[in-house]
Amino acid sequence: MLLRLFLIASVLFQSVLLKKVQVYLTTGDQSKKLSQEADLYPSNSNGRQIHIDRYRRYQTMEGFGAAMTNSAAFVIYHSSKRQEIMQHLFSNTSGIVISYIRLTMGGSDFMAVPPYTYDDLPQGVNNDFNMDYFDISKDRAFVIPMLKQARSINPNLKIIATPWSAPSWMKTTNSLYGGDFRGESQYQQAYSKYFVKFIQAYKSEGVEINAITIQNEPLNNQNGYPTMYMSSQIQRDLIKYHLGPEFRKNNINTKIIIYDHNWDHPEYPGDILNDQTAAQYVSGVGWHCYGGDATEPGNFHASHPNIDIYHTECSGGDWANNFSDNLVWNMDNLFIQQPHNWAKTVLLWNLALNENHGPQVQVGGCHGCRGVLTVHSGSGQYESEVEYYVIGHLSKVVQPGAVRIESTDKVGDFRSVAFQHKDGTIAIIVLNKASHSNSFSLNIDGSHYNYNLPAKSVASFLYSY
Ligand SMILES: *[C@@H]1O[C@H](CO)[C@@H](O)[C@H](O)[C@H]1NC(C)=O
Ligand SMILES: *[C@@H]1O[C@H](CO)[C@@H](O)[C@H](O)[C@H]1NC(C)=O
Repeated sequence: MLLRLFLIASVLFQSVLLKKVQVYLTTGDQSKKLSQEADLYPSNSNGRQIHIDRYRRYQTMEGFGAAMTNSAAFVIYHSSKRQEIMQHLFSNTSGIVISYIRLTMGGSDFMAVPPYTYDDLPQGVNNDFNMDYFDISKDRAFVIPMLKQARSINPNLKIIATPWSAPSWMKTTNSLYGGDFRGESQYQQAYSKYFVKFIQAYKSEGVEINAITIQNEPLNNQNGYPTMYMSSQIQRDLIKYHLGPEFRKNNINTKIIIYDHNWDHPEYPGDILNDQTAAQYVSGVGWHCYGGDATEPGNFHASHPNIDIYHTECSGGDWANNFSDNLVWNMDNLFIQQPHNWAKTVLLWNLALNENHGPQVQVGGCHGCRGVLTVHSGSGQYESEVEYYVIGHLSKVVQPGAVRIESTDKVGDFRSVAFQHKDGTIAIIVLNKASHSNSFSLNIDGSHYNYNLPAKSVASFLYSY
């Protein structure tokens, strides 16, 4: 009886007086994958110190996720496990609460059907400045249903939409593959109208588009799949004289995000933002991981503090297959470092692909790209790849609207980042890059929470205020 009273009293003491911390762990040896571990309680500090300071606040987060490409939507839509897969991605009970999706507007290098745009013209029609042929009906087959289902599971889900190419009649090649955007102002006006029509058409389907980028990788001009070159001068003028004013005229609040390419050409967004008239319409700059230094968005933010930072794309693939190395690389360079460099989103590439890294009907583009999930054609089987866990380590504990707060980032082999929600709850993500386990002590509001993190592993901590 006494013992039982003592046990009840100690449980009450721990839960009422001592604030506990929830723990989710993924280990490099894959023995744990986002598994919930025993709660932590305060104790004497031990090991490296990671200080959390909720009073030093930085950017407000918008979300974490990946891209709903045509291929991704196709493989999920056609899987016999569709409902389960969608819960696994978007649910706050059985999934990782993915909160941000990048939508490919028509063609990209991940197409289950032939690449298209929303203004493809019949034979003999050479232009369509009035958008008479504008049509999103191809997206109704499986793309829009997947977006709607995702939003119904996570009502906080945000969407950024990106074209890989303008309609071919607006291009020098008259093809979706490669070529330049025609610079003349009538084409800039037509392309602006195209974005307005797209946002309005999606709205009437019940899908709000929160942001757009003007062009995926505007410096990447290749044959074999939809790409398009667009100079920074043309992107600037398009926003300044056409898209910005068109959005205002039509009461469109969708954010305009510029650039959407690698870390190595910051002068491109710089050229646009140096023009005050263009800059007033721009919300942010999108960055990809395939070139340059991961700290560039932070440097850029230092010189453009009023412009937001979005990490919009990075893909894993069969060129790098080692789970623990990929876990460390992704957490270090993207999911921890990009928020430190002011990113409001961290997005990967395909949300799902089949067992052949597809489907892909076009010949060019990425071969061997890995989806966040691998969804096998026919069998109903699917696997969560390392990308699923790196997204989940943030999306499961950091909800949109959370603010990044100060944390000791680099101590020994640890990397960390922290966020505070409106209700005071704090999420901390810690990576151990070392090939051996290491101990640290989280120092929050004057209490210490000790943890021993295995080799090449990551843990997410949720501290309730
Ligand atoms: C989970 O999502 C559902 C549906 O949006 C919502 O009603 C519920 O409050 C959420 N639960 C938590 C714990 O956030
Ligand atoms: C992954 O790489 C690590 C070294 O970083 C190595 O110890 C481990 O054995 C590799 N795992 C596999 C499955 O090859």
